[in-house]
Amino acid sequence: MSNYHIKHLEEYFQVYRKSVREPENFWEEIAEEHFIWRKKWDKVLSWDFTKPEVKWFEGAQLNITENCIDRHLATRGDKTAILFEPNNPDEPAEHITYKQLYERVNKFANVLKAQGIKKGDRVCIYVPMIPELAVSMLACARIGAIHSVVFAGFSAKALSTRINDAECKMVITSDGSYRGAKTIDLKGIVDDALENCSCVETVLVAKRINSDITMKEGRDKWLQPLLDKASPKGKAEVMNAEDPLFILYTSGSTGMPKGMVHTTAGYMVYTAFSFKNAFQYREKDVYWCTADIGWITGHSYIVYGPLANGATTVMFEGVPSYPDFGRFWQIVEKHKVNQFYTAPTAIRALAKQGVELVEKHDLSSLKVLGSVGEPINEEAWHWYNDNIGKRNAPIIDSWWQTETGGIMISPIPYVTPTKPTYATLPFPGIQPCLRDEEGKELKGNQVSGRLCIKFPWPSMARTIWGNHQRYKETYFSAFDEMYFTGDGALRDEVGYYRITGRVDDVIIVSGHNLGTAPIEDAVNEHPAVVESAIVGFPHDVKGNALYGYVILKDTGESRNHDNLRKEINQVITEHVGPIAKLDKIQFTEGLPKTRSGKIMRRILRKIAHNDTSNLGDTSTLLNPEVVESIIEGAKDYK
Ligand code: PRX
Repeated sequence: MSNYHIKHLEEYFQVYRKSVREPENFWEEIAEEHFIWRKKWDKVLSWDFTKPEVKWFEGAQLNITENCIDRHLATRGDKTAILFEPNNPDEPAEHITYKQLYERVNKFANVLKAQGIKKGDRVCIYVPMIPELAVSMLACARIGAIHSVVFAGFSAKALSTRINDAECKMVITSDGSYRGAKTIDLKGIVDDALENCSCVETVLVAKRINSDITMKEGRDKWLQPLLDKASPKGKAEVMNAEDPLFILYTSGSTGMPKGMVHTTAGYMVYTAFSFKNAFQYREKDVYWCTADIGWITGHSYIVYGPLANGATTVMFEGVPSYPDFGRFWQIVEKHKVNQFYTAPTAIRALAKQGVELVEKHDLSSLKVLGSVGEPINEEAWHWYNDNIGKRNAPIIDSWWQTETGGIMISPIPYVTPTKPTYATLPFPGIQPCLRDEEGKELKGNQVSGRLCIKFPWPSMARTIWGNHQRYKETYFSAFDEMYFTGDGALRDEVGYYRITGRVDDVIIVSGHNLGTAPIEDAVNEHPAVVESAIVGFPHDVKGNALYGYVILKDTGESRNHDNLRKEINQVITEHVGPIAKLDKIQFTEGLPKTRSGKIMRRILRKIAHNDTSNLGDTSTLLNPEVVESIIEGAKDYK
């Protein structure tokens, strides 16, 4: 039996049982056999969910980049580590071998050091999907700096909030980025953001689109000349197991985004282990995850998980629709991709285009198809299975979160029989359970409730940067002594899990996790707006789209409502980013509120879903009459 690489169902059950009965032995064996350590641990696990505090491999010392790069040099030095596919299909792909990656990471690490970055400093990385993004993350990890990658589609405001929260000393960016036929002025966004960030001393700028940008004297430096002068050699900093590796922000249902802190050893062990199993990766395979590295999927399954296994990982700069909607399939054919990992929203968008663009390409290299980020509906599942996998490549519908660091519930391809729309069974070491609203555990099968995790796993986020209390309240207070995911789920008659969606005010739009609060705050910034409430409603491509109910200061016809809608979306774009734009904006005179002043989102959600048959008892509301007028107003949107 192999604890690290599971090959058939019986073995899965054996491994799973062991991981629950003897979790410490289980993870210790994996950590011993599959990684290199500067010093072994004194204790595998200590935990207390009441504080909450979790420590894995305490006392161990290591550097994750030695595991992701150095140890492969002897056997895989000339193997492609990162296969970069540019936005423009006519620009040649770049094969970065493990040897070259070693040199590039060392050079970058030496530049960071020369610029005064030390162990524990935070570095914000706002870079598009070009090799410098992965290289800069690894360079931070090499010297013990904590990276905070911000998705290079976020606005200046969103960027500055994240830079200030983590008190980053440096920002790494590029002059601009390509996105299909468009270019984006990233450096301009950074300049705007930094108007409000006094903590940043240095900005390193990679050249990508050769645009004319302004460089601020003393603060901004071109990256390439510094790299050219730097040594390609360098020692990795020795890190403790629980030293933070990175911060990654995710939306909460209220307030500021949460800077989830992931630490070194546990994150490494779990992402490597889960990558190997979730994708059944074999030595010569080419693996491609289409996510942006700005999200956790890219951190764990483009960079750290694959590289820790010595894999070849594709990094794609562009979008699925450029130069046409066949681009993904053209890339699969070109690089003979074996494992392909994408999001339901992309599958639905591509399915809409018909199968002609798929059939032009040879997809026979594909062995495993993955889905992540939101529930995959039955239709999309079948389209993916029939047309992309040709019913020959199992679909792994993998459920996990920024907070969990790695895949939690997912089929193991060629091991777990799949079932459309089901994430199926927990990974070894993961102990899910369902609870009802009172907190009672729902035992047995054919039950549905709130999804919690009972026992720690190595890659769980340890805290929220600068706000441990919020970490405790958000994840460990809803249910006694367990991690609450924020998702609802059901367990079918054989024990398979199906994730039914968020049970809080987080809405998943095109696989992006959006909290309603910061978007409402943005809408309320518009001078004509008094108050707003945002809910999700079903959308055939995006999964969910956003519906805003907005109260205006002057409801008279003095303002053109269509222009106002445009302006409101413009404010959202500036404050949060274009992904948070509202699909529907209904102007209303009031919002339904409880007597304590809380907006009744449940009612607004039902109206947005066009389901007003059973709104429940509205008589206890502060303003029950407003419900009728909102229903009336909503008719314009049917
Ligand atoms: O609601 C779940 C949904 O995405 C949320 C986590 O979002 P984020 O932290 O951005 O991470 C996304 C990528 C790991 C979850 O709480 N979600 C993620 N995967 C699935 C899913 N919902 C259903 N099925 C999935 N496979």
